Amino acid sequence: MKNLFNKKILFIICGGISAYKSLEIIRLFKKNGAEIKTILTSSAKEFITPLSVTSLSQGKVYSELFSVENEIEMDHIALSRWADVILVAPATANTISKLAQGLTDDLASTVILASNKSIYLAPAMNVRMWEHQSTKQNLNKLKEFKYKIIGPEVGDMACGEYGEGKMSDPIKIANVIDDHFLRKKDDKKFKALVTAGPTNEYIDPVRFITNKSSGKQGYEIARSLNKKGFETTLISGPTNLKIEDDIKLVKVETANEMLIATQENLPVDVAIFSAAVADFKINNKFKNKIKKKNNLNLNLEKNIDILKYVSNHNSMRPGLVIGFAAETEEIENNAENKLNKKNCDWIIANDVSNKNIGFDSDFNEVTVYYKDKNIEKEKLTYRRKSEISDEIVDRIINQLN
Ligand code: PMT
Repeated sequence: MKNLFNKKILFIICGGISAYKSLEIIRLFKKNGAEIKTILTSSAKEFITPLSVTSLSQGKVYSELFSVENEIEMDHIALSRWADVILVAPATANTISKLAQGLTDDLASTVILASNKSIYLAPAMNVRMWEHQSTKQNLNKLKEFKYKIIGPEVGDMACGEYGEGKMSDPIKIANVIDDHFLRKKDDKKFKALVTAGPTNEYIDPVRFITNKSSGKQGYEIARSLNKKGFETTLISGPTNLKIEDDIKLVKVETANEMLIATQENLPVDVAIFSAAVADFKINNKFKNKIKKKNNLNLNLEKNIDILKYVSNHNSMRPGLVIGFAAETEEIENNAENKLNKKNCDWIIANDVSNKNIGFDSDFNEVTVYYKDKNIEKEKLTYRRKSEISDEIVDRIINQLN
């Protein structure tokens, strides 16, 4: 964690059993040179004491919204302006609900509403509370308001149940905040381009040929690149997904539009082609809606292969070109063939015959095949697409460095 030095972190701790983990987060922040001010909600004080927090953070602990002492020293507006970043961990269901509604009935919620800084929430709650529709709606709202969410994780809970809702480990949370500051550094920014999602190839004005790609894998790769400080462009076919504002999003529909958008966004240091681009388009698409008839023959012509085009570009070929291969059989052979035929540096193979991974799932399992045979291939075993993406981006950074 090299990016926390001298950074000002306003750390808000809410009342949940995982509040004890917040002490470890403070320790990690301090160890890496950050300056911390802390707000404890009144229920947080049921779980940890202001004394332990102040001893570890070596800073003042704030709690009361109406306090003469605070108003003189640092009122709630000054507190939110002081911070470079705000972290709420654990973020309880109650706090999440209050923030979604813009309530300001205590110091923590007031400071957050008054803030114009990046705000990270690390939710922690019982699995049923996490899965409740109201929590889901609140979180969607908060994502729309540009709050950044860390975790939660799946695991055994303090209440004895098992499932999603466990607060992320302190080291993961501290790393996310470290990545936040890494991204803010403007020096030596690598540029990345990612394609994601399906393409639509129109038959007539209202009908098209498409595929099952949701775009999730590509969006997660763009997110991981952005987290690690890449200046990232995401060229996306039609999806319902949202992406952070600091990623440049170019929305396209057809393979041809994806090709043009790609050309317009070169040069980059690394390009990752995760889109499921239609191999064919309709030759002479119908101008008007086709009327019902007994038979209809479609004449298809090949789309330009965007990955191959970029891999073979004379002047604008990125230093690292990565393709994907969605396969249902002979995965290894087909992946190796694509690696050679498309002249890319890595191919990431997806076994899409397995319904639990690949298209539209939140999870994946892939094998990376390398052109440079120092390592022939590496399997990234079953896990969330976000985690697979972090693994891929770590390898990209190693390669570029
Ligand atoms: O979107 P999700 O639901 O998250 O699913 C993720 C995924 C399964 C779509 C993704 O992980 C994946 O495997 N993407 C590649 C899908 C694919 O169609 O691969 P392909 O074998 O047809 O193409 C090989 C490579 O060439 C891909 O990098 C593709 O982006 C690229 N290509 C293909 C055709 C074309 N005209 N232009 C291209 O750039």
